Amino acid sequence: MSESAAPSRGPEVFAEAPLGPIRLKNRIIKAATFEGRSPRGAVTDDLIAFHVAMARGGVAMTTVAYLAVAPEGRTDRHCIVLGDAAFDGLARLTDAVHTAGALVAAQIGHAGPVANSASNGMPALSPTRRFGASGARTRAVSESDIARITDDYATGAALAVSAGFDAIEVHLGHNYLLSSFLSPKLNRRTDAWGGKLEARARFPRQVVAAVRQAAGPSVAVTAKLNMEDGVTGGFAIEDSLQVAQMLADDGHLDALELTGGSSLSNPMYLFRGDAPRKEFAATLPGPLRLGFAVVGKRFLKEYPFEEAFFAPQARQFLAAVDLPVVLLGGIDRLDTVEQAMAEGFSFVAMGRALLREPDLVSRWQAGQRDEATCIHCNRCMPTIYSGTRCVLDPGGGPGGGPGGATDDPKDRRAAGGSSGATTEGPDLA
Ligand SMILES: Cc1cc2nc3c(=O)[nH]c(=O)nc-3n(C[C@H](O)[C@H](O)[C@H](O)COP(=O)(O)O)c2cc1C
Ligand code: SF4
Repeated sequence: MSESAAPSRGPEVFAEAPLGPIRLKNRIIKAATFEGRSPRGAVTDDLIAFHVAMARGGVAMTTVAYLAVAPEGRTDRHCIVLGDAAFDGLARLTDAVHTAGALVAAQIGHAGPVANSASNGMPALSPTRRFGASGARTRAVSESDIARITDDYATGAALAVSAGFDAIEVHLGHNYLLSSFLSPKLNRRTDAWGGKLEARARFPRQVVAAVRQAAGPSVAVTAKLNMEDGVTGGFAIEDSLQVAQMLADDGHLDALELTGGSSLSNPMYLFRGDAPRKEFAATLPGPLRLGFAVVGKRFLKEYPFEEAFFAPQARQFLAAVDLPVVLLGGIDRLDTVEQAMAEGFSFVAMGRALLREPDLVSRWQAGQRDEATCIHCNRCMPTIYSGTRCVLDPGGGPGGGPGGATDDPKDRRAAGGSSGATTEGPDLA
């Protein structure tokens, strides 16, 4: 966050702070990083251990990544569906995290066009028909799908609350279903759910209202919203500022976590740093690997890493939107967190730095001020298929060894897609 002058003091990083109806013990949240520890959607001990490691490492709240509200909304078949089969496991997870001293959020979503239809064994959905992430054509969402998926979000949120989650994070980013409705490029509908911004925002707003209603008043409800898709003709910051204010006016959210990029056509936009083309190609079956060699550069573009890389855009939301804002993206230093507080951000969320060093926050709290050792190589991205971990960590990452979600080629991306990519890459939610 080098652009601003020296920070005036903001609220203490390591003091309690409210997030809607809940209180966090400090201002640092573990951002969702798909764990790759749920083979066929099962909650495993390894998944629980991953989050216990985050809790022990000092964050106020850890986020369980990408819980699907419906089977066709899974990124692939190793994604947990918020249903009865997962309930006991999720309840064990929330108990274990609470015992380890942190709160726990459930990120809930519907993958829409990013879903791997071949792995799921069912078509992916999108606002209008197109090629989806796995190369097959998607099915356009019908009016009755919209009603059913809204109910799925409500049912999923209620289940998460019963399972003991303290917060629900609704995924409105990365060109997943609700984010794809916001995008003028992906949403070409001519009915009441497409066209002008108000109409494109209708489904996401309806879902957020349903989630709030179902979650009740004792848990926090937040949204992870794209500030921009990083795609020509996609959702842009001017529109996002308006949608953020619509969400604020609706009064159902306790905070907004701001992100950007597209898991469909520009995933590196949300990471920055090295594009792990070689490592990603290695996860693909032979023929796809060849295709990826041709288009990989276009699909996995390189954006240089900068500390707090989303801060310039996120500041615009601080100024214009009447909601607490969570700053996310490239936060590796304690002084960045302090400056974010001084500028008026309510919390920060951290992903890769904590994947690399789950105990970084408690070291900061103990008085050390060392910068995270994550080198932004992004080689953890392809490990989502085999137990997400920092590849620099010989121990296999938080929570012990790799979870080994899958080695099945069905779970890799298939060829084609209207983005022209041979593979749509890892489902980095
Ligand atoms: C391996 C990996 C998996 C991720 N999975 C998810 C996910 O499931 N849902 C999501 O919203 N973001 C996901 N992300 C993105 C992170 O939440 C975060 O937005 C991004 O890593 C930038 O933050 P950072 O610089 O602190 O890592 C993932 C990131 C990584 C590295
Ligand atoms: S593999 Fe490790 S060092 Fe590389 S980006 Fe991921 S967490 Fe950081």
